[in-house]
Amino acid sequence: MRTAVVWDALESVLGGVPRDVVDLGGGTGGFAVRLARSGHRVRVVDPSPDALASLARRAREEDVDVSGLQGDVTDLVDVVGSASADIVLCHGVLEVVDPAEALGRVAEVLRPGGRLSLVVGQRHAAVLGRAMAGHFGQALALLDDQAPIDARTGRRFTAAEITVLLEAAGFVDLDVHAVRVFSDLVPAVLVDQEPGAAAALVELERAVAQRPEYLPLATQLHVVATRGG
Ligand SMILES: C[S@@+](CC[C@H](N)C(=O)[O-])C[C@H]1O[C@@H](n2cnc3c(N)ncnc32)[C@H](O)[C@@H]1O
Repeated sequence: MRTAVVWDALESVLGGVPRDVVDLGGGTGGFAVRLARSGHRVRVVDPSPDALASLARRAREEDVDVSGLQGDVTDLVDVVGSASADIVLCHGVLEVVDPAEALGRVAEVLRPGGRLSLVVGQRHAAVLGRAMAGHFGQALALLDDQAPIDARTGRRFTAAEITVLLEAAGFVDLDVHAVRVFSDLVPAVLVDQEPGAAAALVELERAVAQRPEYLPLATQLHVVATRGG
């Protein structure tokens, strides 16, 4: 349910033919294994040996090939090679790295015309979340603050900020989607106990994903962008 909107956009980018995919910070392989199952050649680059071990286990269980490579943003080009990918996934990573540097490296490993699938935490939802939890001072501090919230949570971005960063790294044709507009606000019990509620919630999330007025309410932004020539 939390990734339905991301998968919708990703599947239209993949276009039904096998692609060379690099999943930067792909972790335990939630996206990578499913992509490999659909016939894509997937390399996951992640600094965490534990995550890579879980990825290998998951791939074995699903009987698919995913190459797990230990590395991070800084050595991404050395690890996978420049201009070696049709698609790079960078989901939940930009928050904890230098975003401009990371996007520069991602652009280098993409072939010209290659596509980036980027998921980042969205700041206005984080402000709202802190206010609703009674942490008004934290909410106030977060309003305009582009610095990391803390080492674990990292940064949050607005749609305008992520657009500037992507364009500076040479990406074009940006398509921004709102992800998890309602899912994190609705009590789980309402979704779990009411028959059909989960499917209805996904339908609602899909209905607002492309409406710009919902971007500031989204927990995450999903951006599909093309590496410019
Ligand atoms: C929030 S998880 C996201 C995992 C996965 N992409 C997903 O969407 O489910 C962040 C991942 O980024 C990885 N990571 C942390 N620092 C990194 C860095 N400097 N370069 C690349 N990946 C990093 C972590 O090991 C972790 O697997």
